[in-house]
Amino acid sequence: MEEEVRVIAIDGPAGSGKSTVARQLAERLGLEYLDTGAMYRSVAFAAMAREVDLDDSAGIVEVARSSDIRIDDAVVTVDGVDVTTQIRGPEVTRSVSTVAAISGVREVMRVRQRAWVMERGGGVLEGRDIGTVVFPDANLKVYLNASAEVRAERRAGEVSALDYETVAADLAARDAADSTRQHDPLIQAPDAIHIDTTLLSIDQVVDELIARLG
Ligand code: DC
Repeated sequence: MEEEVRVIAIDGPAGSGKSTVARQLAERLGLEYLDTGAMYRSVAFAAMAREVDLDDSAGIVEVARSSDIRIDDAVVTVDGVDVTTQIRGPEVTRSVSTVAAISGVREVMRVRQRAWVMERGGGVLEGRDIGTVVFPDANLKVYLNASAEVRAERRAGEVSALDYETVAADLAARDAADSTRQHDPLIQAPDAIHIDTTLLSIDQVVDELIARLG
C-alpha cells in the first residue's frame, strides 16, 4: 500500500506566528518545514540583483524560472549564494508583494512547492495560499491571525533597523496587497481552523493543532 502523503497547510498574514508555529509543529510531527514566503522573497532578491524592473512581469517570471532557490530550514540560497539575511531586508520586503502578485511567478513556485512535498512524502508548509491553492486537500489547514498591533510589534522586534511606525505601515500595505491581488490572494479556506494568536503562546497554538490532528 502507498504511504499517505501528510501535508499541513498554515496560512495567514505577516506576523501572525506562522513561521514559528510551522517550524515547531513540523519538529513535533517529524516532518520537514517549508517557508514559502522565503521562496517569493528569493525571487524578489534575484530580480533586484539582476536589475530586472518590478514592472517587467515577463522578466520576473524568467528570473523565477531560472533561479535555483534552496531552502534548508533557516538557510536560503539563490544560485548557490547565501541570501538568508538579505531576503529579510527592507528592500525585498517592500518589493515582494509586487513579485508575488505575478501569476507566472506563482505558477513556478506552486510547481516547486508540490514537488518539494512529493520528494519528502509530506511536510508542513506556511504561506498565503497553501490551503486554498497549493494543497487544497491538505490533512490539516490552519489560518493564523493576530491583531495588527501585535503583528507589527512582533515584526518590529525582529527588524531592529526600523522603528515600530515604519514596520506597522509597511506591514499594513503588504497585507492589503497580498489580500486583494487577483491571483491566489490571502483568504481563509472555508475548512481551515482559525486561530487568533494575539494572546496565545506558540506552545498553546502548537498543542491545539496537535490535538486537532488526533
Ligand atoms: O511570509 P513572508 O512575509 O515571508 O512572505 C513574503 C511575501 O510573499 C508575502 O508578502 C506574500 C508572498 N507570499 C505569497 O504570495 N504566497 C505564499 N504562499 C507565501 C508568501
